[in-house]
Amino acid sequence: MFLTEEQITTYKNNGFVLLDEYFSRTEIELMKAELPALFAEETSKRVLEEEGNTVRSVHGSHTTNEVFRRLSRHPRLVLPAMHILGSKVYVYQFKINAKAAFSGDVWEWHQDYIFWKKEDGLQTPRVTNALVFLDEMNELNGSLFFMVGSHKEGMIEVKARNFKEISGESKVNDSSWKSSFTAKLKYSLNQKMIADLALKYKIVSIKALPGSVLFFDSNIVHSSPNNISPFDRSVVIVTFNSIENIPSTVDNPRPDFLVSRDFRPIEPLSDNALLIQSVS
Ligand code: SIN
Ligand code: MN
Repeated sequence: MFLTEEQITTYKNNGFVLLDEYFSRTEIELMKAELPALFAEETSKRVLEEEGNTVRSVHGSHTTNEVFRRLSRHPRLVLPAMHILGSKVYVYQFKINAKAAFSGDVWEWHQDYIFWKKEDGLQTPRVTNALVFLDEMNELNGSLFFMVGSHKEGMIEVKARNFKEISGESKVNDSSWKSSFTAKLKYSLNQKMIADLALKYKIVSIKALPGSVLFFDSNIVHSSPNNISPFDRSVVIVTFNSIENIPSTVDNPRPDFLVSRDFRPIEPLSDNALLIQSVS
């Protein structure tokens, strides 16, 4: 269940590695069956698109939903994450991105780590994302764009976007964390930076079938356009942090459903964990 040497080399060189059809269609259908109820819950963990109707993302479902709790502890995610990071891991962040048919909005060009460093006090980028495809992703439905190898730049300093521009509100409030998840991201790279980076790093568009898993580096430069196709493009992103990289304390910490502070190392479940009646 660990990655092969070739897969690790690909991850280190390119900043990502795609594992095709890694979960079965049955496992994916079990996860997808949970989405309507999760998307319908009117909680602060849910972020809507700017038009105010469509669900953009739902956060922290690994602590409230049994299927996603098991996914976050699944050996097919946890063991490669341990291999990549070289230590035991815990779940740092868990989100479901809906990117709904016709309405799913853009994710601007950004790196992930800058959010975690600036907002949460995460000391180093020793953290990895495991993205599970619940739907097919291709050039039609708002595919992810990666700049291959751009993680080697390290964290690129960018100016935080003005809070009022993101939220339309003048004062920081309990929902201010949403500025990291709307279509106007707090830390996005400007057009000049992207044009310069594109001279060095090739841009690729990710294509994957449901059940595939994409591990990607927290400093890779990435984005995705809006989804004007009639096809949903939902993904789950589980971010694993090394237990040797516990964040420092910050003023105005973001809510626990965004940044887990349960630092206990994960003991992976059995490989059939999503399919059996009960697990401990
Ligand atoms: C992300 O950058 O975290 C999400 C991108 C996407 O779902 O397209
Ligand atoms: Mn991202």
